[in-house]
Amino acid sequence: MIYLDNAATSFPKPEPVYQTLDRFARTALANPGRAGHRMAMAAEKALDDVRHALNQFFRGESPDRWVFTLNCTDALNMAIKGIVQEGDHVVLTDLEHNSISRPIRALEKAGKITTTRVVSREGYVTAEEVSAALTPRTSLVAITQASNVLGTVQPIAAVAQAVRTAGALLLVDAAQSAGVVPIDLKSTPIDLLALPGHKGLYGPTGTGALYTGPRADGRVRAWREGGTGGDSSSESQPTLRPYFLEAGSPNVLGIAGLGAGIAWVAERGPGALRKHEVDLLQQAVDWAERNDAWRIAGRWEPETHAGALSLFTPEGLSPQDLAAVLDVTFDIAVRPGLHCAPYIHRNLGSFPDGLLRLSPSPFTTHDDIAQFLDALSEITAGVV
Ligand SMILES: Cc1ncc(COP(=O)(O)O)c(C=O)c1O
Repeated sequence: MIYLDNAATSFPKPEPVYQTLDRFARTALANPGRAGHRMAMAAEKALDDVRHALNQFFRGESPDRWVFTLNCTDALNMAIKGIVQEGDHVVLTDLEHNSISRPIRALEKAGKITTTRVVSREGYVTAEEVSAALTPRTSLVAITQASNVLGTVQPIAAVAQAVRTAGALLLVDAAQSAGVVPIDLKSTPIDLLALPGHKGLYGPTGTGALYTGPRADGRVRAWREGGTGGDSSSESQPTLRPYFLEAGSPNVLGIAGLGAGIAWVAERGPGALRKHEVDLLQQAVDWAERNDAWRIAGRWEPETHAGALSLFTPEGLSPQDLAAVLDVTFDIAVRPGLHCAPYIHRNLGSFPDGLLRLSPSPFTTHDDIAQFLDALSEITAGVV
């Protein structure tokens, strides 16, 4: 299969990830615990090592600021529901995935908060537009760094500066940027960073993380309570970072795999990985320019693009039908529809059918893209 759905989850994983998962599952898969037996302590150390790896890779304040989550959705919910209080104002954009839009909309529908949704143009918002949406009541700005529909990378450094100046907290959704766009928490005032482990960091599904910076200290309420592996005498959730947000048995196997994924990415560098993906997408952009029936969505700026690109499909061919033929006849996996991000599709005029998205990986070749484009030409030959 030619797998062009890496924005959903990356496949294949690098070989060291498979090897780590196999070795860890056979030799070290105990329930972590700081006061446990040797194998439990070894499992705890594996978690700790990956917290260090995350902290180094993203240049955070300290490893204990990294909380392991189930995925990026879990991290975003933890941040949003942990921070936002009744009476607050929240700023987001129309590029957001439902994992930001839905929790915030639910709070708004319950009459607890007010919101402003900044409208993007050709897939981009500016720091000035975000700034203009801030009010004295704004407690949180929640913004995706790279659109999962368009691949467009937002000016996060400038947005972060504007949000910091206004005194609100900034939550960045790095679902499509972690591992391909350099993120430096030392030099960029991001307060909360949510990321999946299973996309551009090449861990298995079931992994993710939330970074909480110093300005969020004491402000993120635990929304999952239970055993934390440490002090069991307390009647209520302990406050010790990072454990207070990590109740329950963690996905230590997945996190060990994530560690191998981060090492693999760090060795290559996000810049080189992004460049490979953008070069592959350029091939599709050039092809669409030569084919009148096809049009790409959003502004194509290779320097500010991550590894996803969506296409408007020709009249009479829905993205869903096209994706089904690509799958069944050509063994090519792409993602049609709204990509859990309905607001940007309304903006683009592609609601409700959506678009056809391709998202390559470091393992995708130019020949894979050529086969995908040839298949599109073949399928549409009879229709347009
Ligand atoms: C921009 C964006 N945010 C959040 C998510 C949710 O990530 P997860 O699947 O890890 O929950 C996705 C998933 O595709 C995404 O693309």
